[in-house]
Order: sequence, then C-alpha cells, then structure tokens
Amino acid sequence: MDFDAGIHIDKVRLQRGSSNVFDGLTLHLTEARIGLIGDNGAGKSSLFRLICSLDAPQSGSVTVQGRNLHAQRQPGLVGMMFQNPDDQIIFPTVEEELALGLQPQGLSRRDALDKAQQFLAQRGLAPWATRAISSLSQGQRQHVCWLALLIAAPQVLLLDEPFASLDLPGQALLDVDIGAASQQVVVSTHILSHVLGFERVLWMEQGRVRMDAAGAQVCAAYEADVAQRVATGLAGAALAKGVRG
Ligand SMILES: Nc1ncnc2c1ncn2[C@@H]1O[C@H](COP(=O)(O)OP(=O)(O)O)[C@@H](O)[C@H]1O
Ligand SMILES: [Mg+2]
Repeated sequence: MDFDAGIHIDKVRLQRGSSNVFDGLTLHLTEARIGLIGDNGAGKSSLFRLICSLDAPQSGSVTVQGRNLHAQRQPGLVGMMFQNPDDQIIFPTVEEELALGLQPQGLSRRDALDKAQQFLAQRGLAPWATRAISSLSQGQRQHVCWLALLIAAPQVLLLDEPFASLDLPGQALLDVDIGAASQQVVVSTHILSHVLGFERVLWMEQGRVRMDAAGAQVCAAYEADVAQRVATGLAGAALAKGVRG
C-alpha cells in the first residue's frame, strides 16, 4: 500500500456531541472514484469532515497523500462540496464565490474575478457572474458549490450528497464532470445510480463500514437491505438513530 497516495484513516475515534461517531475506523482509500452510501446518520458527512480536517479525531490518524492536515494546513490538497450549500457559500455573488477558490494560487482579486468570469462563460453561464447567491434556487446554489470546487481544483474532491437538490440535467452534467475529473473523487449519495458504476463503494452503517466492494454489488445489497427493513417495519428505527441526517 502506497501511503503517499490517497486517503488513509487509521484507528480513528471521532466524537461528536456526547457519542463516538467512529471508534477504531481504519480505511485506505486509493481508488480514483469512491462512493459512500448508507442511511442518514451513518457517518458519511463526518467522514468527509475528518478527511478535509474540519474535525480532528480524538485518536488515530488521517493522512491525505502522505500529509497530516490536522498538523499542518495544506491549501489546495482537499476540497469539499458541502451537503448544504449555505454551509459552503460565503460571498454574496457567484463570481466572488468562485474567485475565493483561486486565492491559494496567489492571483490578485481583479485577476481572480476575471478568471471566474471566463470560467463561467466557458460553461455557458456568463450571466451568472454577478447574480446574487440569494437569488438562486437551492439546486442552482448546489451547482455553484460544484463550480467553486472545480475552479479551485484541489487534488482530492469530496462531494457530500452533491446531487440532492439538482434537477435531472444538473445531475447528468455533474456525472459527466465527475467522470472527466483528473483528481481522486469521493461522492456520498442516496441516488445510487450515480455510484453504481464506481470501482469501489462503501456502505456505511452506524459509523462502520458494512460493505466495501464494487458499486453494483454494494448498491444491490443496500437496496435489498432497505427493502427488507421496510417490509418488516424496521426502517423507522434507522430514522430515529439519524439525529441530524
Ligand atoms: N454536530 C453534531 N453534534 C453531535 N452529533 C452529530 C453532529 N453531527 C452529526 N452528529 C451525529 O453523528 C452521526 C453521523 O452523522 P453524519 O456524519 O451527519 O451522517 P450522514 O452524513 O451519514 O447522514 C449521527 O449519529 C449524527 O447524529
Ligand atoms: Mg450527511
């Protein structure tokens, strides 16, 4: 195993609130495309927060491409698209939000804004440049979050339920973008078709990995499990466990 490539989580304990979300979690994520599936509260967002160093583990280690982000910030290494766009977007307009992602490249504010405008124009979105974020729909804001990540171009992309608010064309476009990305991409989703073809999908359950295999296999097993829980009236019990979702 090459510890200088990919994401390495070693015997991690992560506490959020009064309980452990992870206790002894070990994962080596080196594939180019990795899917994360599982019920609300399974730990998908917590895993992303650990990897991008928003949360530090109580014990154990997390490294990305051989670097410990909790010990030293590494701008440009890991970027995350948040489950809720309002947790990610800082600036009032689209162009300013995209320009923010160019900061680590050392561009002046004017050059960063120019580059953001060009980037939007290349994608047929020139009129979006000066649009107020508040005037965009939830799905459009989610698309802005993806564009912000694309233009920032970190080496590892973490996408937390990126399809949740997107319309069908938006979902199809994101599938194409993910397919074309040169970086390692980890995607959590409840819309299993988006990760069905991935070489590796993890089914998370209560802070542990219940299954770890090729996308088609894991998605089929999860769907069968959900169907069985619904049939036996156990699906509601899972909802009660997922406090925040
Ligand atoms: N800010 C928080 N404070 C306390 N517990 C949290 C917090 N965020 C999430 N949790 C708990 O951590 C567990 C995993 O949540 P999360 O990672 O958000 O799951 P998922 O993204 O798979 O829905 C859940 O039990 C949830 O209630
Ligand atoms: Mg989540």
